[in-house]
Amino acid sequence: MIEGRGITKAFKQVQALRGVDFVIPRGGAVSFIGESGCGKTTLGRILAGLESHDEGRLLRDGEPIKDFRPIQLIHQDPYSALNPTRTIAQILRDPLRLRGHPFSKAEELLSLVGLDPSYVLSRYPHQLSGGMRQRVVIARALTVDPEVLVADEAVSMIDVSLRLGILALLRNLRETLGVSVLFITHDVATARYVGAEGELYVIYRGTVVERGPVDTVLAGPVHPYTQCLLSAIPVLHGLEVPGPDRLVPDEPLDERVEPSGCLFEPRCPFATPACAQEQPLLSRLGDTPQDHACLFPARRHVVAVPAR
Ligand SMILES: Nc1ncnc2c1ncn2[C@@H]1O[C@H](COP(=O)(O)OP(=O)(O)O)[C@@H](O)[C@H]1O
Ligand SMILES: [Mg+2]
Repeated sequence: MIEGRGITKAFKQVQALRGVDFVIPRGGAVSFIGESGCGKTTLGRILAGLESHDEGRLLRDGEPIKDFRPIQLIHQDPYSALNPTRTIAQILRDPLRLRGHPFSKAEELLSLVGLDPSYVLSRYPHQLSGGMRQRVVIARALTVDPEVLVADEAVSMIDVSLRLGILALLRNLRETLGVSVLFITHDVATARYVGAEGELYVIYRGTVVERGPVDTVLAGPVHPYTQCLLSAIPVLHGLEVPGPDRLVPDEPLDERVEPSGCLFEPRCPFATPACAQEQPLLSRLGDTPQDHACLFPARRHVVAVPAR
């Protein structure tokens, strides 16, 4: 089990993470969802040991993580992840040797990720399709016997027709190898597909605003941000919106301004004066089946209307 507790991270201009807690059970599926810039990649990179964090703790079975090898990151661009001057055989040879595996394991892993070793091994990355390259990246991650694959928008740069195959592969690897998958995405459908029966974390401006079993959260989101995210259109009318003055603004927020209340308050269609005063903590306030960080959680039907 991999755990993060109170992870914070600031870059010069932005507070990218504001105290994020998460748990990735062994063999489990966890999805992080949120719009661009909310901190998903930063969290994935910290977890994979590629980025430092300011505060908080990363634990593996209760002990501080020292060796990050078991946590392998698969990022969105499979081309930049592979050395263009080396064949797939060369790319897989070194990590296999490091782990004391015979080279024959390369063929086994390539087959496991759905590639034909006799076709792929002698080729260079540019001779393969984006989908095949991403499968090679996954095979390379598997050479080190990982516990967790962190798939960060792993299909966003891949041809639409090939995406489902990669997502199915990630899902199957959980079953065949018992590896956990942390699936980072801005897309609800992919989170639902890969993360089914796992936990969904909805992230907004570096905080978890809602968390629970994927189906519970998607079928009955209680945080207005999740409700807006699911309707996926920038201009929103909540059915219970008090008036047009509370429509979600289109313009980007100034990320340097630290509100004293809820981070979502400036964009929330349901905000009350109290929301500008008090920062809600992740809880089950209001007897909800999932955790949320909202002072006034409610199952609402937020319907989107086209932008004017
Ligand atoms: N290396 C960096 N230097 C400065 N700011 C960064 C850096 N990496 C990320 N950020 C900022 O941190 C925030 C979160 O970024 P990121 O984790 O990439 O979000 P996401 O993956 O959800 O789109 C953004 O405001 C981004 O501009
Ligand atoms: Mg990202």
